[in-house]
Amino acid sequence: MRVLIVGGGGREHTLAWKLAQSPLLEKLYCAPGNAGIASVAECIDIPADDLDSLKNWALEKKIDLTVVGPEVPLVLGIADIFRQSGLRVFGPDSKGAILEGSKVWSKRKMKQWGIPTAGFTIFDDFDDARNHLARFYGGPVVIKADGLAAGKGVVVAPGPEEAEQALYDIMIERAYGEAGSRVVIENCLSGEEVSVLAVTDGKKLVVLPSSQDHKAIGEGDRGPNTGGMGAYSPAPVYTGALARRTETEVFRPLLKGFADMGVDFRGVIYAGLMVSADQFNVLEFNVRFGDPETQAIIPRMQSDLLPLLAAAADGDLKNIEPRWKDDSAVCVVLASGGYPGSYEKGRVIEGLDKLEAEESDQVAVFHAGTAFKDGRTVTAGGRVLGVTAWDKDLQKAVDRVYRAADQIKFEGCYYRRDIAHRAL
Ligand code: AMP
Ligand code: GLY
Repeated sequence: MRVLIVGGGGREHTLAWKLAQSPLLEKLYCAPGNAGIASVAECIDIPADDLDSLKNWALEKKIDLTVVGPEVPLVLGIADIFRQSGLRVFGPDSKGAILEGSKVWSKRKMKQWGIPTAGFTIFDDFDDARNHLARFYGGPVVIKADGLAAGKGVVVAPGPEEAEQALYDIMIERAYGEAGSRVVIENCLSGEEVSVLAVTDGKKLVVLPSSQDHKAIGEGDRGPNTGGMGAYSPAPVYTGALARRTETEVFRPLLKGFADMGVDFRGVIYAGLMVSADQFNVLEFNVRFGDPETQAIIPRMQSDLLPLLAAAADGDLKNIEPRWKDDSAVCVVLASGGYPGSYEKGRVIEGLDKLEAEESDQVAVFHAGTAFKDGRTVTAGGRVLGVTAWDKDLQKAVDRVYRAADQIKFEGCYYRRDIAHRAL
């Protein structure tokens, strides 16, 4: 099979790394890719949101399967355009991708379809939204801009002052652009977060092992949220009983709701859950693989990923049941100093060659924001690399991942030392 991956981050490197091991693969391309993806796929210089160029290129190269990594092209309708041209694609149409593209849409549907989620109200007027804050009696509240905001756009405000500031930034200052024309104000939930991803053909589901992301920049989950500073899989908080409830109370009603609307969802549904002793709720849905969850989940996959993605894209998951290693995997993200604020790019990354040469069958380095410059690998983004290690024993996986991460050096390199702390 000739396969194209759309995207160029750590998630796409992980998918490329796994697909490159498939005996069914004839040739792997990635658009636009990055310096690490270039070692397993031919990188094509087309941005992930240039849908027409991607489609024309895929037609010309007779691509058998396109796997879409990020949300932006999905929300823009890459799957619609590819399918209209007779191209096979793994990812939902824009009618399905709105589940991630609009928080307002997603919250309304969760309510309509009976999927557990935090109580909420929707506003498109700043003064109405501000007046509503009084109902929280000075306690915490969550404000969400409606629309894609590159993983930002959600503020968990500890009190009314922070909430009002967030509302002002989102709705008046338009910190996240047009996404700020409407907001969701919702009850703040507490507990532990878990990410549950399921591959679906619109009818059947293959639920992948659970994982937990570490969104905050600082150790102990302090400081501003990022795209994700590390992840581990499985997440022990996701028990068998919770897995059964998630299937019947979250995934099934969602697929039924989509089917009733005539939406043929072929891709990944990512449910971000908040779990506490007596309840669980959906915080958000995404319509793609998580990043960095994928870097912790996919290395645990024993069977071939390609037939699973191809079958979902065909709308027929058949009886595919992937096999998983019974290891724990831990991914630590190495970021540029300053991230998630402003940071420098173009720093030379040292130690990669040695580590990649030594890479055992229990360590992998996934590139996120990297590029080649004058024959060297340099930083090119906020999140630069994801180092993943796995082992039967979680503590050993943690020790191994930090031994590997410590070998990589670049100016300003920062990573959290406490990934997987909740499971240890
Ligand atoms: P979202 O993009 O909706 O998942 O929000 C991003 C992050 O904000 C989540 O991963 C949580 O850490 C936090 N969050 C979102 N909604 C809530 C909520 N209702 N209560 C507490 N934290 C939340
Ligand atoms: N790790 C969070 C996300 O992929 O949205």
